[in-house]
Amino acid sequence: MPDFPKRDLKEYVDVGHSELENHLRTQNAQFQSVLEEAYAGRKLTDFLWLNIFGFAFHYLKSRFGPRHPYQFYPSGDDTGVYRMKADNETTFIALLSDWASDTPESDRVGAVVASHKPDYSIHLGDIYFVGAPSEVYDNFISPTASWPRGKWGNLVLSGNHEMYSNGAAFYKMLLPTMGVRVNPSDGSIYSVVEKPSGGSMIYEQKAGFFCLENDYWRVIGLDTGYTSVERPFVEILSPPDCHLRKEQVRWLKNQLHLENPDDRRGIVFLSHHPPFSAFRTAFPRPARQLRQLFGDFLRPVLWIWGHEHRLVGYQKREVAGLPVFGRCIGHGGMPVEIDLPKINTESILFYDQRRRKNLRRIGIGYNGFAGLKFDKETLNIEYRDVEDKVVVSERWTIDIQTGMVDKME
Ligand SMILES: [Fe+2]
Repeated sequence: MPDFPKRDLKEYVDVGHSELENHLRTQNAQFQSVLEEAYAGRKLTDFLWLNIFGFAFHYLKSRFGPRHPYQFYPSGDDTGVYRMKADNETTFIALLSDWASDTPESDRVGAVVASHKPDYSIHLGDIYFVGAPSEVYDNFISPTASWPRGKWGNLVLSGNHEMYSNGAAFYKMLLPTMGVRVNPSDGSIYSVVEKPSGGSMIYEQKAGFFCLENDYWRVIGLDTGYTSVERPFVEILSPPDCHLRKEQVRWLKNQLHLENPDDRRGIVFLSHHPPFSAFRTAFPRPARQLRQLFGDFLRPVLWIWGHEHRLVGYQKREVAGLPVFGRCIGHGGMPVEIDLPKINTESILFYDQRRRKNLRRIGIGYNGFAGLKFDKETLNIEYRDVEDKVVVSERWTIDIQTGMVDKME
């Protein structure tokens, strides 16, 4: 597959949330690349095929065609629950969200993450504009792609943009490049990037959700992307609510047992969509579903999400009865929004509103990522920007006697 030319961050300013507009933008980006290479005589034909027929075909197929079948665990002997590398040693996980824009900015964030040599790298979703095969390839797979591969593993969640093209490239192209290895000699499961050797096997990521855990913490990736889009007409009667599909709920119940009072590990949820927001429409239904799964053993959770292109930390609050410390890190690779919050402004603990530059006369902020360092009961989180400066750092702790996660001042 050819590498399409790098995109300019300007292309992403003011991108709307409709599938139609995002398909048009993908088509236009591909057309521009053909224009740059084509002979003059070919341009009209290329334009017709790529912009009109190509666009109409892909858009209609995506809007009216079936979504890629939902994938879930168990899948063979893969349960989707993996031990972090060498149990209980310090583990560094890099989280990037809304990063896959294939711009100089996303390259720079990728390079900064790579310089920290993450054990695991996790993308919280949204490949722009529509998660097309060329977009998956350019961001994650091409030899020049800047996805900062984790030494021990790479995992991805789906956002809404992957589903704008029915999720086919997400499931068929991207997941097989994310690796998980089982080491049968000691029963541990490790995620690695290397080729299999000795008696170990590589497990490809098989679903849009997973759990990485050690004796103190569980990092649980939730799939809210698959249910974030709906077919035309159906979406009017039943607007998408990002709910956890029954297969995922069954996995949470049967593999993770969140209600078990003997398992007091700290819970860190990851998802693309926000359960609440001070800025835009949020999606509380997954929180309601999770609340039920906790049963009588209710305890606070740390929940990190993307979707909104900004860095925000919220005060602890209840969402559908679930106590949540919420963090939004959707500032990975898109123009970062720095506008004022609209609602619940008092709920904000921190918000990176620094203006980096103007694009099309709109002030945009700093891209960045979150680095999570797990060290027994302690979890240090550093929110770093594209220049590798620490914007905010936090120290969390899990009381393994009670299962209570809290922030240390
Ligand atoms: Fe999104």
